[in-house]
Amino acid sequence: MPVITTIQDLKEIYKRRVPRMFYDYCESGSWTEQTFGDNISDFAKLRLRQRVAVDMTNRSTASKMIGQDVSMPVALAPVGMTGMQCADGEIKAARAAAAFGVPYTLSTMSICSIEDVAAATDAPFWFQLYTLTDEDYSDRLIQRVKDANCSALVITLDLQILGQRHKDLKNGLSAPPKLTAKTIANLATKWSWGLEMLGTKRRGFGNIVGHVSGISDTTSLSAWTAEQFDQALDWKKVEVLMKKWGGKVILKGILDPEDAKMAAKLGVDAIIVSNHGGRQLDGALSSIRMLPKIVEAVNGKCEVWMDGGIRSGQDILKAKALGATGTMIGRSYIYGLGAMGQAGVTKALEVMHKELETTMALCGHRDINDVTRDILYIPEDFEGRWA
Ligand code: GLV
Repeated sequence: MPVITTIQDLKEIYKRRVPRMFYDYCESGSWTEQTFGDNISDFAKLRLRQRVAVDMTNRSTASKMIGQDVSMPVALAPVGMTGMQCADGEIKAARAAAAFGVPYTLSTMSICSIEDVAAATDAPFWFQLYTLTDEDYSDRLIQRVKDANCSALVITLDLQILGQRHKDLKNGLSAPPKLTAKTIANLATKWSWGLEMLGTKRRGFGNIVGHVSGISDTTSLSAWTAEQFDQALDWKKVEVLMKKWGGKVILKGILDPEDAKMAAKLGVDAIIVSNHGGRQLDGALSSIRMLPKIVEAVNGKCEVWMDGGIRSGQDILKAKALGATGTMIGRSYIYGLGAMGQAGVTKALEVMHKELETTMALCGHRDINDVTRDILYIPEDFEGRWA
């Protein structure tokens, strides 16, 4: 087993192990990938304030997200096609998250179905819902989420239409992959991934195939989003969905203070400051940059979390210092999953936890809940002066 000390180490193994089509799916932003890159580089602009001679014993990163105890303020984000990064990937990620004491969110676009994950895990997970035009299917989906005892619904608001990621088009992204000369040549070099895939039945979109009609190609994420996602989504429809669900709600994909205020008015439990990992509106500002303005706008009416660009425990701490009560990680755990399955997700969480805890201590804190903006040096123009 190689010595793994960073998320980047996992990414390198992941890149070697997983078919190019799925690596590219994970590692892309839309159009020029400006926002995808900014999410990461803006974290690096924030610097940390070193403090000394402070008692560092009994450190704790334990916290709460929507009232749920978490071992650190991190949840695993919904990631489409996770079960293509590694056989039964959603089940493995959910198990690793539960053992580590952080929430797992299952994507509507998952490979393992809601029922598969519920049957294979003990801890309640969260479910991410897209707003769909097929009301009957959407209602049945919400009922399935209730039957699986999911403890929160994460409604994604920033993907009514799919941002274009060039590589997915060029690769002919699908689940399972279609066998062309190009994919066969690549799959031939990914034998350990392939052997594991042969050992599972779960190789299509588990929440969709067999549950919905009227899609031209059930293997294609872009066909599904184009044909079924509700382009007419508005706040009224969000409210209707919230009522149908009746439980805890997290709204994902908020990047503007005005939208954050609208969301808070609806009485949601949390919002996630997010640009979908730079996969939707290219040219949007990074999540970490927008976070302070949104925290201010929401003014404590609901929890404010963020995702996008988190590749270390230091990034989690920086988000916390700028007012996020929680964070979500996507690619960082997918690298671990693709590299070594469940153990790789655990490794990603361990790496980030250690970075978080050590950085917190060296900044003079031993309880994550006491961390404030005080630990940061923030460049004057960090939030930007935009006309
Ligand atoms: C789906 O959520 C995607 O970003 O591909």
